Amino acid sequence: MAQVSRIPLIAGNWKMNLDHLQAIATVQKLDWTLKDARHDYGAAGSEVAVFPPFTDLRSVQNLIAADKLDIVFGGQDLSEHEAGAYTGEISGAFLKGLDCTYVLIGHSERRTLHGETDQQLARKFSSAVKHGLVPVLCVGETADDLEVHGPSAVPVAQLRATLAGVTGTPNFVIAYEPVWAIGSGQAATPDQAEQVAATLRATVAELLGEETADATRILYGGSVKSSNIAGFMRQPNVDGALVGGASLDVTEFASIARFQKHVGT
Ligand code: PGA
Repeated sequence: MAQVSRIPLIAGNWKMNLDHLQAIATVQKLDWTLKDARHDYGAAGSEVAVFPPFTDLRSVQNLIAADKLDIVFGGQDLSEHEAGAYTGEISGAFLKGLDCTYVLIGHSERRTLHGETDQQLARKFSSAVKHGLVPVLCVGETADDLEVHGPSAVPVAQLRATLAGVTGTPNFVIAYEPVWAIGSGQAATPDQAEQVAATLRATVAELLGEETADATRILYGGSVKSSNIAGFMRQPNVDGALVGGASLDVTEFASIARFQKHVGT
């Protein structure tokens, strides 16, 4: 596969943490901390994204727009539907209207706690693309899957199911997040992440062509910290990280982003 440069993405998934006031303080602090890193390592580096709760998005949008911050943001989920009688759901159009760049799709907590199926996620993926959002499709195996099927089988099957009806050259991101590594403190090894990321990229090439596969960023997620990010970022097929717990600590999250900038320059 051709060697291409993909802009790394360091994404913070806040989950159900930080209200809108805390979100403003956190994004402001993140910006100051990143500015030092950008000063130290130059403009080249990672794109930095945060995924706040829905109720924070308007505040985050206003802050980023008013102060022209070099931080992008997205929703943690979207409805597969356009509008109507779907109590509690948020449409892709609403997210786009708040200037979201990205939207997470199929995070393991959505799959497990809300029973989201691959078929439903395929519809969410289409809706995100339709509304001009970049889907960040989360895939990953449980500890049992790992034992029975090995590391790649379930993530690849989830990817295939979501991309089944997709044509053209969609702009999307894949986050490989082994379920056993999320919030456990036990990250995959960089070699494990690379092996699955390479298999996922080959699957995108098979389904959507080499060009899309080369352009698609594949993140690793699951207990990423500033102390282990280096190993992941050295892998040729790992283009960044989806960070949960450590993204709530601004200094730690900025260190993760800063390290990548250092490596990339
Ligand atoms: P973690 O979560 O970094 O706390 O393991 C990652 C995620 O759920 O996206």
